[in-house]
Amino acid sequence: MCGIVGYLGKKNTKQILLDGLKELEYRGYDSAGIAVLQNGNFSNYKAVGKLINLEEKTKDFITEGFAIGIGHTRWATHGKPTELNAHPHLGEFSYVVHNGIIENYAELKKELQSSGVTFLSQTDTEVIVHLFEKNQKNSTNSLEAFARTIKELHGAYAILLVTKSESDTIFFAKHGSPMLVGINGEDEKYFASSDTPLIGHCQNVNYFEDGDYGYVTPKTVAIYDKNGVKKEAKFTSLSQNKLSAQKEGYRFFMEKEIYEQSVVISDTLMGRLSDKEIIFDELDATLFDGINEIKLCACGTSYHAAMSASYLFERYSKIRTSLEIASEFRYREPIMSKDTLFVVISQSGETADTLETLKMAKAAGLKTLVICNVDNSSMVRLADATILTRAGIEKGVASTKAFATQVTVFWMLSLYIAKLKNSLGESQLAKHISLLREIPSHVKVKDDMHERIKRLSKRYLHGHGFFFIGRDIFYPLALEGALKLKEISYMHAEGYPAGEMKHGPIALADPELFTIALLPKHLHYEKTKSNVEELSARDSTICAISQIPFDKADDFIEISPCSDYMLEFFEMMTVVQLLSLEISIRLGNDVDMPRNLAKSVTVE
Ligand code: M6R
Repeated sequence: MCGIVGYLGKKNTKQILLDGLKELEYRGYDSAGIAVLQNGNFSNYKAVGKLINLEEKTKDFITEGFAIGIGHTRWATHGKPTELNAHPHLGEFSYVVHNGIIENYAELKKELQSSGVTFLSQTDTEVIVHLFEKNQKNSTNSLEAFARTIKELHGAYAILLVTKSESDTIFFAKHGSPMLVGINGEDEKYFASSDTPLIGHCQNVNYFEDGDYGYVTPKTVAIYDKNGVKKEAKFTSLSQNKLSAQKEGYRFFMEKEIYEQSVVISDTLMGRLSDKEIIFDELDATLFDGINEIKLCACGTSYHAAMSASYLFERYSKIRTSLEIASEFRYREPIMSKDTLFVVISQSGETADTLETLKMAKAAGLKTLVICNVDNSSMVRLADATILTRAGIEKGVASTKAFATQVTVFWMLSLYIAKLKNSLGESQLAKHISLLREIPSHVKVKDDMHERIKRLSKRYLHGHGFFFIGRDIFYPLALEGALKLKEISYMHAEGYPAGEMKHGPIALADPELFTIALLPKHLHYEKTKSNVEELSARDSTICAISQIPFDKADDFIEISPCSDYMLEFFEMMTVVQLLSLEISIRLGNDVDMPRNLAKSVTVE
């Protein structure tokens, strides 16, 4: 995800910006850049890929004495990860960096273009700098021009802007994206989009509130609220612990990543939805020519996302879909035919077993597609086509937001294929697209829900095992819930199709067998309910998750009202993730680094 840094002072500005960007690397990015104004001259450097490329480009650039500078790491959303699209963006005599989304950028861009402005990038950000320069022409000072610019922007942003005529000033604005400013006694000001770049540089920081904008100079921090009323900065002391700063107040990265799901899913959807269709600029529609079957292949959580996709592809795209566990597929001498699209799914893009199956499919002449979170990973380099999930770096070994974005991509892909194959009517397609837009609000963690799960978790610290049960697409979610729990709690958990329990596993039912029942209102509710009742009658302890109260349950976790089973899927996904997290925390386990597990399994 994007990161912002800024510096005003007499120290080595270039180094402070580069070091600050390094501290934000863990968030993930695909290009980076800096702009420095010194002695009346701007210097600007950008590079695609890792920061080392930017360091290489700036190795002969020296900053000495007073300067102002801004820097950015970009995770591509509007426009590809190219140098032109990397920040900072230049107008005629100003530079801007921005995190977030300018929702009305297309209208603003059109207006600016019609008044003769030329755009160099495909980003939404570039409108900010051109709008500022336009406003500067009709304003009495730069602050007024900046305030007018901010007023015209709709969406979420954290912005830093520097302009040639104000060589000792950095302008800032914050709305919906985090940003803070730090000071120390040497007339220096530091900006960043999270704490870590400021640690070691300043003790006191002010966290901007939504609607804040203003400017800093060596002697001033001037903050205005959204109504233009001047307000006092509220400086607080900055914790000097980097690891805990990266966790941004959460107890574990896994918890932070669960809370991030709403934002990252918005990123996954961004630019890919129109009212009538799904847009995957990265796919050539001919990829599906001559394809009669899709084969999905993956490991672990990614395999569960693939299984979810198999339900969506057959239901909406009306295409035959098969599913493979990569470690099995590679040794079972599978038959591969060229009318099959081979799709691998991997958060890391490096999992050895999955990578091997991709090589096998390529060698057999199949068309290949990878759904991946890491650009430039081995699988992305090898596959014919890629869809990036845009979850940002996932640090917790137990995958959460990566899974959420994988399923989001698959839902979109099922509709994309449905459109190509004419298997869904226009109104159905439009309905799904509007449901997709609702996912971010359904995965937002509500305080009361989290509190309830925290309280409930104390009843589930013993017992001889857990069954997560569900039907249809809630079966892969049950598998995923069980995997999450066993990975971080070390308790035995299994995912099972609800209808299969009576074919054997129900023999285990007793009060020490915990059943986590996924009961969606909009998909096979009555059937699943009967299966849960069978377990309840045999005295299994039941924790039901549903939007419909269920009186046979010992515990009930109520999700928000949802108009479709897929939204129930995302609500329940968040619940099972939080339940595992809270059980594991109560057991005193290291949630982020569970025993015996690695984040990326690059060996067989
Ligand atoms: O990077 P990948 O998605 O290919 O990784 C696959 C599995 O190793 C991974 O999903 C694993 O199961 C996670 N620990 C699940 O939380």
